[in-house]
Amino acid sequence: MKVTVLGGDGVGPEVVAEALRVLRVASEASAIPLVVEGFPWGTGWYLEHGEMMPSDALARLAGFDAILLGAVGSPLVPDHITLREMLLRIRFGFDQYVNLRPVRLLPGVSSPLARADDLDILFVRENSEGEYSGVGDRLFPGTPREVALQTSVFSRLGVERVIRWAFQHARDTGRARVTSVSKANALNYSAVLWDEVFEEVAADFAGIESESVLVDAAAMYLVTRPERFDVVVASNLFADILTEIGAALQGGLGLAASANLNPERRFPSMFEPVHGSAPDIAGKGIANPIGAIWSVSLLLGHCGHPRESAAVMRAVEEILEEGNLATPDLGGASTTREVGEAIAARTVEILRQS
Ligand code: NAD
Ligand code: IPM
Ligand code: MN
Repeated sequence: MKVTVLGGDGVGPEVVAEALRVLRVASEASAIPLVVEGFPWGTGWYLEHGEMMPSDALARLAGFDAILLGAVGSPLVPDHITLREMLLRIRFGFDQYVNLRPVRLLPGVSSPLARADDLDILFVRENSEGEYSGVGDRLFPGTPREVALQTSVFSRLGVERVIRWAFQHARDTGRARVTSVSKANALNYSAVLWDEVFEEVAADFAGIESESVLVDAAAMYLVTRPERFDVVVASNLFADILTEIGAALQGGLGLAASANLNPERRFPSMFEPVHGSAPDIAGKGIANPIGAIWSVSLLLGHCGHPRESAAVMRAVEEILEEGNLATPDLGGASTTREVGEAIAARTVEILRQS
């Protein structure tokens, strides 16, 4: 397995170091050959070289099976430059059109919801177009007539493939229902196309329940009745926002994981925690590494190692449930490294026993 590591900015390198520790020990315990190469790209690189990544970056990443990414973004350079030139360049350039984000309450973690035992939602976020297409203009800049245009792009191909993937994944993993989230009462072109395509695709999956919910109502139901959601498919921006609510419900942003998938495997897929570079706690060694480690579990599953993927997840759950080690965001006083080392050691024990 060839994995490339992009720590990026802020807490990115800190959490990725622990995720990589877990990946290394899991591979070693199972005699999975692992080749790791890291690249120092990100805002530091930008300040030195004037670009977030070299111009041939995608060609250099293309030979890997998977990318493990920390986070991108720094107070030193505007976000629309750093994120567009690194994170979105990889997601779009490698056609990682599915962004899978599990929202599940892990044992030993408390949710801000009074009752969250049924919280188990799989978000399937459209990740290659929509509101993030980057199409637009600024007219008459700096004048009172200034106009900003930001065009969403919804293609039938783009909408259909992600919705179809959501249904197929629900079928493959024994999930009962797919909910589409959109907003056709206001977005009279893009969301109407989205809803039409959803209905067409749903008809091909007779055994799976389907429903369509408006995004404002979905935001409410996530808090009041999260158990009504199973698989949720939504556009790039809507799912960005809803999964951040999801992260809060599952106990915090530090726990949330994601996989940016190119399902056809023409390009590497990318695994990253949902959180950003957290400049407020960067450099302190206290960031929660679990979102990044959970992402490693998703990486192992994607790369054909389900046993190791499950072992990492079980190690995370056991350490959380025992409650002796937790970073400050979960109310503890442990460091990033202490949590990472404990999960790594437990992963090895689990793999040796099984
Ligand atoms: P953020 O996710 O970095 O932080 C939000 C809050 O959550 C902060 O209080 C932070 O301390 C906390 N937090 C985040 N990760 C944590 C962890 N692992 N452990 C404990 N606490 C954690 O979001 P933000 O502050 O809005 O953005 C900061 C920068 O990150 C910006 O430049 C933004 O554009 C970027 N960003 C990048 C990504 C990415 O690379 N995928 C995602 C989101 C935001
Ligand atoms: C995320 C982040 C990114 C997104 C930003 C930083 C561009 O918020 O991964 O959720 O919106 O996709
Ligand atoms: Mn986000």
